[in-house]
Amino acid sequence: MRELIDRYGRKHTYLRISVTDRCNLRCLYCMPEEGMTFMDQSKLLSFDEIAEVVETAAGLGISKLRITGGEPLVRPNLDQLIGKLSAIDGIKEIALTTNGLLLASQAQKLKEAGLNRVNISLDTLDPSRFRFIARRGELRKVMEGVEAAAKAGLTPIKLNCVLLKGINEDEIAEFLKMSYEQPLHIRFIEYMPIGHDDAGWRNHYLPLNRVLEVAAAQGFIVDSADSEAPQGSGPSENWRIRGGAGTFGLIHPISDHFCKSCNRLRLTADGNIKPCLYWMDELNVRPALGSKEAMDRLFLRAMDIKPENHEMAALLAGEAQSHVPTDRRMSQIGG
Ligand code: GTP
Ligand code: 5AD
Ligand code: SF4
Repeated sequence: MRELIDRYGRKHTYLRISVTDRCNLRCLYCMPEEGMTFMDQSKLLSFDEIAEVVETAAGLGISKLRITGGEPLVRPNLDQLIGKLSAIDGIKEIALTTNGLLLASQAQKLKEAGLNRVNISLDTLDPSRFRFIARRGELRKVMEGVEAAAKAGLTPIKLNCVLLKGINEDEIAEFLKMSYEQPLHIRFIEYMPIGHDDAGWRNHYLPLNRVLEVAAAQGFIVDSADSEAPQGSGPSENWRIRGGAGTFGLIHPISDHFCKSCNRLRLTADGNIKPCLYWMDELNVRPALGSKEAMDRLFLRAMDIKPENHEMAALLAGEAQSHVPTDRRMSQIGG
């Protein structure tokens, strides 16, 4: 079988598919409060078109899919897409990254359609702080979503916490305790400068060595849990507090980037293959729809143009001039 191996020898088995740029929240690290000009609905790939792209990708060795947004659950009938994708030969795992607000009502249906597991954004355990960070919605709804996901068997559940200096860093200890007490996987994520105001990012960026300092200060003994992570995993470095029911993970694209082991490609909601989260170049799939050969060529071309790594660290150090080498915002890529 042909495989997706890039110029730096990295094999790609994981495709992140964004199904919408819309969202029912306005998290301050992701979208401006007033929202944005959203993609024209007619520009979105249909479910059949996404399935066609995935057929080709699976033929080239993609076995893991992640559905993202914006918020993927605002796209109507998402379970129908999951059903189509889970029937494709070679697809072994389908996961979803969601803010959890609409999960309670959809978890069971998604599971039945073939969804395996969910990652849920949870940046705070405090309801009023939730309103400050997400600017809309209610923490209670997210927690109901987490419960419904567990009940539906969408496990292991991972909770994504973007750490923001001066905003939620005082909750690290509480999140760590949660990973000790419950069979949950809390992932702390470094705030990335994707498509929004530079000053906000510089003021609130927090390197994740802080998490290990807090764990030590709490007297926790931590062991690596990387060997527990399945093959083809995402970028998280995993730890377990000794004796704990769950684990915690560190996703640190800036303080210690993980590009060397990158195994991911992205498909945007408007139909572009994005070889790297933090890079301009994209390849439009629309002209290749209807031709397996053309779609194959497009994926192989993505391997030729994928950069070796991103320059977020250089930005922080003031060594790189350009602020944003992608003109998309996070919500238009899906993380
Ligand atoms: P698992 O399959 O459960 O390991 O998920 P994941 O970590 O791959 O996916 P998720 O959507 O939960 O992403 C968590 C965080 O990692 C988000 O902030 C993403 O933006 C970030 N992330 C995922 N892949 C990449 C990547 O290739 N580069 C960078 N810089 N960040 C990434
Ligand atoms: N930096 C880091 N993570 C981000 N996410 C969204 N915007 C950013 C950012 N600027 C996270 C969300 C979600 C995942 C898809 O990406 O919290 O969990
Ligand atoms: Fe919405 Fe996710 Fe962006 Fe928050 S991070 S505004 S939940 S797309």
